[in-house]
Amino acid sequence: MTDRYAIIGNPVAQSKSPILQMAFARQLGQDMSYETILATADTFHETVRRFIREGGKGMNVTAPFKLDALDLVDTLSDRARAAQAVNTLKFGDAGVYGDNTDGAGLVNDIQERLGFPLKGRRLLIIGAGGATRGIFLPLLETGPAYFLVVNRTDCKARAIVGDHAAPGKVEAGPIRLAEGGRFDVVINATSVSLTGDRLPLPEGIFAEGSLAYELAYNKGHTAFMEDATQGGAARISDGLGMLVSQAAEGFLLWRGVRPDISETMELLRNK
Ligand code: ATR
Repeated sequence: MTDRYAIIGNPVAQSKSPILQMAFARQLGQDMSYETILATADTFHETVRRFIREGGKGMNVTAPFKLDALDLVDTLSDRARAAQAVNTLKFGDAGVYGDNTDGAGLVNDIQERLGFPLKGRRLLIIGAGGATRGIFLPLLETGPAYFLVVNRTDCKARAIVGDHAAPGKVEAGPIRLAEGGRFDVVINATSVSLTGDRLPLPEGIFAEGSLAYELAYNKGHTAFMEDATQGGAARISDGLGMLVSQAAEGFLLWRGVRPDISETMELLRNK
């Protein structure tokens, strides 16, 4: 029997998840369907419950329900707890399992697709919103030599780093703290590329051979990517690989097999 999956959000029509998940299913010969479900704050819980009653096996959760989804899970992964957000639900005999695959998607994209090992590197995240909450712990677990999170509102960066703070190893603060820090990887996790604002980058943040990673994936060559090139970053990436990799991580959770990323990225870029 065909296994049913879906993405739930509002809006949801723009989501790339149906294309990605069905591309993975074709690639790996999996008998599954994938629907797009629009919900409102009032109908979110009941819509998920109905999907489960109808035999649904799993769901992706997108904005604005990633927090609401926390309330309906029976078991939460550590990474979803750290992110305080759920983007993947799996339904089974043990109830509802909630996970967050964003951070693993980013880590896999940087280490595997881009071939850039993070262990022993100097990492910088600019921004301390929901995106940073999702990626902080998985990045920390790769074992960087030094990890700094900076934000315009510095207390939000400190709150994310929280108990993991260790002087000279894991730190948080205002954006200017990054100045002269010569990082191997600099991640733009602010929303400036979406809003069209400009983020003045501190001087001297790019080490030799460094990677600048833009989390946005559908904004072309952003001001951050441009400024990073000017600032000396050796490599630049947008977030398309993270998008595909976080979807692949969800597929792995549901189906137990890991899709090939590169093939699917080609498909998306050509669309
Ligand atoms: P998301 O869930 O996409 O991370 P968010 O939670 O609204 O969105 O967070 C947006 C992030 O972009 C925040 O870190 C925000 O900084 P503040 O916490 O100080 O608001 C950052 N941001 C947005 N506009 C910015 C700007 N013009 N300059 C610097 N940082 C900006």
